Amino acid sequence: MIRVSLRKTLVVASCAAAVGLACGKSEESSPAAAPTPSQAPAAAPATAAGAPPSAAATAEAKQIFETRCTACHGARGAGDGPASKGLTPPPRNFQDPQWQAAVKDDYIEQIVQYGGAAVGKSAAMPANPDLMAKPEVVTALRIYVRGLKSQ
Ligand code: HEC
Repeated sequence: MIRVSLRKTLVVASCAAAVGLACGKSEESSPAAAPTPSQAPAAAPATAAGAPPSAAATAEAKQIFETRCTACHGARGAGDGPASKGLTPPPRNFQDPQWQAAVKDDYIEQIVQYGGAAVGKSAAMPANPDLMAKPEVVTALRIYVRGLKSQ
């Protein structure tokens, strides 16, 4: 999220430096038709960089995982929740250290807020629009997902 807003700042800065409408135009002609995380609706401002989420945000994230995510992802994130049956592709096993190493924090935070379709993944992974206004809870959810990794 921080990278997204930084990127925006850079775009704005280069717009100011560019002549006339050229800047907006070059953005339009960007080849990516499908929305990507950086093109997704503006994320809520992040909390201070690297600041750990509060105990309240951490508790809320745990509660959200248990109520909204386990149906598909399973209580321990193994991808074996009751609603995972028949999903193609199936939810990932969050315990897998290789998967954990392969994905960036930003990616996890984006898919949780904007849903699978917004990041080129299965639309079966729902968006959670209410979390866009709660960056601290999103961070805590990402940390929760990270914590499911098997040691
Ligand atoms: C209706 C079922 C469903 C629910 C509910 C759901 N997910 Fe997902 N989720 C999926 C599926 C299916 C995928 C796999 C998408 C793909 O690989 O294309 C996915 C993918 C993900 C990924 C990325 C995995 C990867 O390999 O790229 C993360 C992270 C994630 N979900 C977190 C969550 C969190 C956190 C919640 C709760 C807020 C949640 N999901 C709720 C079905 C669900």
